[in-house]
Amino acid sequence: MLSLGLVALALAISGVSSAATGFASPPAELFSPLVVQKVLKTAQSFPDPPQYPQYTDRDEGNWIWFNTDLWTTGFFPSTLYAMHERAQICGSKAGNADQWLELGRAWSTPEIPLETHTTVGHDVGFVSYPFMDELKVNPRNATAIQAVNAFASELAARFNPIVGCTRSWDSADPTDFQVIIDNMMNLEVLFASETLTGNQTLRDIAISHADKTMVNHIRADGGSYHVVDYNSTTGAVIRQRTSQGYADWSTWSRGEAWGIYGFANMYKHTHKFDYLQTARKMAKYWIANTPSDGIIPWDFNAPLDPPRPADSSAAMIAANGLLLLADQELAVHNASGSAYYTNEVIKMLSANTKLAWRPSWQSLLANGTVNNPEHNNLTGIVYGDYFFIKAGNELASRGLADC
Ligand SMILES: *[C@@H]1O[C@H](CO)[C@@H](O)[C@H](O)[C@H]1NC(C)=O
Ligand SMILES: *[C@@H]1O[C@H](CO)[C@@H](O)[C@H](O)[C@H]1NC(C)=O
Ligand SMILES: *[C@@H]1O[C@H](CO)[C@@H](O)[C@H](O)[C@H]1NC(C)=O
Ligand SMILES: *[C@@H]1O[C@H](CO)[C@@H](O)[C@H](O)[C@H]1NC(C)=O
Ligand SMILES: *[C@@H]1O[C@H](CO)[C@@H](O)[C@H](O)[C@H]1NC(C)=O
Ligand SMILES: *[C@@H]1O[C@H](CO)[C@@H](O)[C@H](O)[C@H]1NC(C)=O
Repeated sequence: MLSLGLVALALAISGVSSAATGFASPPAELFSPLVVQKVLKTAQSFPDPPQYPQYTDRDEGNWIWFNTDLWTTGFFPSTLYAMHERAQICGSKAGNADQWLELGRAWSTPEIPLETHTTVGHDVGFVSYPFMDELKVNPRNATAIQAVNAFASELAARFNPIVGCTRSWDSADPTDFQVIIDNMMNLEVLFASETLTGNQTLRDIAISHADKTMVNHIRADGGSYHVVDYNSTTGAVIRQRTSQGYADWSTWSRGEAWGIYGFANMYKHTHKFDYLQTARKMAKYWIANTPSDGIIPWDFNAPLDPPRPADSSAAMIAANGLLLLADQELAVHNASGSAYYTNEVIKMLSANTKLAWRPSWQSLLANGTVNNPEHNNLTGIVYGDYFFIKAGNELASRGLADC
């Protein structure tokens, strides 16, 4: 993350004037006392044996709980680490830093057995989030080091050199090698483990995967396919299609958001210009296809009638992806590009928070779409809340939001 001084300098260069930062105020809900209250309440009701919240019911907004071996179980522990980070940025208004850290650790511990047995496939990357968080707090925690390295090895073991990608989903026919755009998010654990071990093969795998994804998942207009099926014995593309989107040719918004974040992150790690260009292209598609009310639909091409459900989680993921992209623009001395994306983030957070904020729900946000083809829409979602909190932290640490 860049220092505040650099951001201020960049803004001065870009000629943005008005008020202190030149940006509109982000939505006040980002730092509502309800954030601390609700997260703490969920954290203190950890079931025994352990279960993890993934999404809520549609009417009351109560969390629905799932067993540990699931792709989303890292998000609530990581939310607790994000609150620990927030308490350091914002002080005691964000709760007690030591308590958040203790809760984050307690909630991560039952994930440790997933190192040796899990069915989450490529999502070992998401599952490793709280362990990567722990290493930011205590780089010497041996349990967390072991977890990051184990999850990275598992992802690396899913790499097929003929295809050039890590396998996302397992399939009945093993020659049907399925890669989803979401997989871009899981590459981070490979870089984290490379940092710990010096093993550059992990970096090479991430680069190969991103290069293939750039060619076969991203369309000329910057939209994206959800799934690409490769033939594992020939490396050929069999199909480009959707699973959770509206149609094979459409752009599922959460997938697009994972892509913006994923390619900005690849640029951060490699400084390979194609990744910056790809993140920009996907961001351009995102911004150009955002409807005039600013509400992010679950799929950018889903019909308007009957009204299409929003996906607040896609909006929150994209907000973080665009802020990461804004950092990369600053790194290439493109202050106006950086300010442009930051401004888009604030607009997007405002519109989608206004729609989805639900004081009476257990989740912070409603209007998330877990999986519309499976009729699971209009719920709270654990990763929507996680990325909502992270967006607040990012803006506060840049001096663009008041805690
Ligand atoms: C180290 O991290 C693990 C997993 O994140 C956690 O369970 C444990 O409490 C941490 N240990 C210490 C001493 O902080
Ligand atoms: C580096 O990582 C790859 C992928 O997990 C593994 O196959 C290889 O053995 C590792 N190399 C060393 C020197 O540990
Ligand atoms: C992959 O290619 C091989 C060899 O041509 C073929 O036998 C196999 O059926 C193909 N798999 C799929 C899923 O198309
Ligand atoms: C947002 O969610 C509410 C129910 O909580 C629903 O009535 C409304 O239609 C949703 N709006 C969108 C755009 O999804
Ligand atoms: C700055 O960023 C914007 C938005 O990504 C981009 O369109 C523009 O080409 C960039 N300018 C330079 C000089 O790189
Ligand atoms: C949202 O989910 C409900 C069922 O839970 C389903 O009936 C409806 O068709 C979905 N909405 C849209 C617009 O697809």
